[in-house]
Amino acid sequence: MPNIILLGPPGAGKGTQAKRLEDGRGMVQLSTGDMLRAAKTSGTEMGKRVAAVMDRGELVTDEIVIGLIEEKLTGAVGGGFIFDGFPRTLAQADALEALMAKVGQHLDAVVEMQVDDTALVARITGRFTCGGCGAVYHDVTRPTKVAGTCDVCGSHNMVRRADDNEESLRTRLMEYYKKTSPLIGYYHAKGKLVGVDGLAEVDAVSAAIAKVLDKT
Ligand code: AP5
Repeated sequence: MPNIILLGPPGAGKGTQAKRLEDGRGMVQLSTGDMLRAAKTSGTEMGKRVAAVMDRGELVTDEIVIGLIEEKLTGAVGGGFIFDGFPRTLAQADALEALMAKVGQHLDAVVEMQVDDTALVARITGRFTCGGCGAVYHDVTRPTKVAGTCDVCGSHNMVRRADDNEESLRTRLMEYYKKTSPLIGYYHAKGKLVGVDGLAEVDAVSAAIAKVLDKT
């Protein structure tokens, strides 16, 4: 199965599409954001260290996230990884290449989800997720069928992220443009980059990603 990166600013739809690829194709989502939030919630030393940084919308250190990915990849059987929110810096991209080589895998494609900033504010401030299964919803564009109940697993535990506010989003976008967007040129130069219109309907974005996967 192919290994891909979903690359895009906060709210581009990376998590939404990664979940669909897990359900539809049995791929494996590796979201450093989810891993860091899990560490925060379970109160590990690392979780305590990164909590304030994440809430402000800044990037945590390369060392921490590379360590998290290394843990997941070491001993993983098979491929089909969807890297969601990783890499976010050139140092992370280099580390990923080395880690993949170490486990006998390679990267097949980098999907750049292209959106504009104005859409992101509405997407981020309306987002909530299911605390049970991680399904992603939106107050306006994708509400649950029954208010307060997850369509997928029936949980009533709906969660809003501490960094999903306009102030943190501004910092997250700045971090993206300063530190992550250089990866667009990096993967273009490697011949791995494919752009998809992230402003299209969720199904249309999924179809565009499916096309990329079918060509790998
Ligand atoms: P992370 O969890 O990775 O957050 P992010 O990159 O800011 O991305 P989001 O999860 O906010 O957005 P998304 O693209 O997944 O959008 P979604 O599908 O949910 O990172 C959080 C923090 O952790 C970082 O700020 C940093 O501190 C730290 N971190 C994580 N990884 C790191 C790393 N590698 N290095 C350093 N620090 C790291 O969609 C958003 C909303 O839009 C939803 O409500 C959804 O329903 C809706 N939506 C989705 N698609 C569509 C569509 N096509 N049309 C209409 N609505 C849509």
